[in-house]
This record gives sequence, C-alpha cells and structure tokens, in this order.
Amino acid sequence: MLVHIPNVLNRDQVQQFRTLMDAADWTDGNQTSGAQSALAKNNTQLPEGSPLAKQLGAAILDALGASPQFVSAALPLKVFPPLFNRYQGEQSFGLHIDNSIRILRGSDFRIRSDLSSTLFLSDPDEYEGGELVIQDTFGEQRVKLPAGDLILYPASSEHLVTPVTRGVRVASFFWTQSMVRDEAARRTLYDLDTAIQALVPVIGNDDPQAIKLTGVYHNLLRRWAEC
Ligand code: NI
Repeated sequence: MLVHIPNVLNRDQVQQFRTLMDAADWTDGNQTSGAQSALAKNNTQLPEGSPLAKQLGAAILDALGASPQFVSAALPLKVFPPLFNRYQGEQSFGLHIDNSIRILRGSDFRIRSDLSSTLFLSDPDEYEGGELVIQDTFGEQRVKLPAGDLILYPASSEHLVTPVTRGVRVASFFWTQSMVRDEAARRTLYDLDTAIQALVPVIGNDDPQAIKLTGVYHNLLRRWAEC
C-alpha cells in the first residue's frame, strides 16, 4: 500500500528548511548505505547526526505526530531520525531495497524498517527527472510530489530514483517500525479507521454503531499490536 500524505510540512516550514539546507555542508550519500546499495547510490546527504539534521529531523517528527493520516497508516512504534538527501547533475539512486534493520550510530537505538518514507522538499517544477519509482505488488508506481508532501510505502519494496537532469531535488527520508508488523493487518486497520472517520461526521460519534465500529478497530489493534 502506498499512502500519499499531503502538507506534512506547510509552505513556511518548507521555505525555512530550504534556507537552512542551502547553507549547509553536504557529504557523500553512501555514508548510510549497505554495501550493495552503495553501488547504486549517487547523491549527497546532510551528515547524519549533524546539528542541522537533528534540528530538522525533530521538526519532522513533530509534524508526523500531528498528522492523523500518518499515525493511522503507519501505526508508528519507532521512527528513525530523518535523513536528508540532494540530487543534481544526473545524480540518481539505482534499484535497491532498504536494509531491514537500522541502527543509529553511537547509540543502542535500532528499528526494524517496516515502512519507508520520502518527504519531498523541492516542488516538481524545480527539477527534471528525480522520480521515486516503487515496484509494488500492483506494479510500478512513479512518485513526484509537491514540497511538504510525503509518500509512505512498504520498506520491503524495491525502488529507485531516476536521474535528476535539471535543477535540484532535496528530500528527507526515514524508516518506521510499526506497532503492527503485518502489512495486510496494517492495511485493514487503516481502511477501517478511514471509513470510521468518514462515517462519524454523518452519523455522529455517539451513534451505537459508530461506537461498535470504533470498538472493533481497537479490539483488532489490541490483537495485532506490539508496543
Ligand atoms: Ni531506499
């Protein structure tokens, strides 16, 4: 399941991010790659753990916590501190799969990557190419979103970023360990929650059937969640 979450960051926040990122030092993106994906990867990143990456990452974590759609779709247990990358001048990232376990350097923080996210920080008209291409069970999905929007997709899917042939593409990317490990179960909960959220304004949240459906949601979550 691919979930597009609009406006995780607003225009002012994106502008602030971009100003700070433009003034920063960038390093080779292979710092965070496994040996296999290092062969495919050609981009630059904000140094992992740098004060700026931490500051911007914390702002993203706040925004995710305030996004009902992210919380509902990901059911996050732990989110890896967001990283930041930049592609320009034909840079790309060939087909690869993300590592299953992510360990935060110099700490005992580790997560199982159930979900991958890309938060776009450049608008589509700022660059040519730079599409995130995800091979999903439903075929190939090509993703290029407005700045501030996020795509959430299974970390188990193969993906790539096509060469950026004009302009600059900056983005944040990170992984989430979900409370619900099984993708089908997570999707069922998301569909149920989405339907309840759409129904409640129509029937009222004190309607007995609305209460029952909400109970079903929580009882399924109770069965399936590890936290
Ligand atoms: Ni990746």
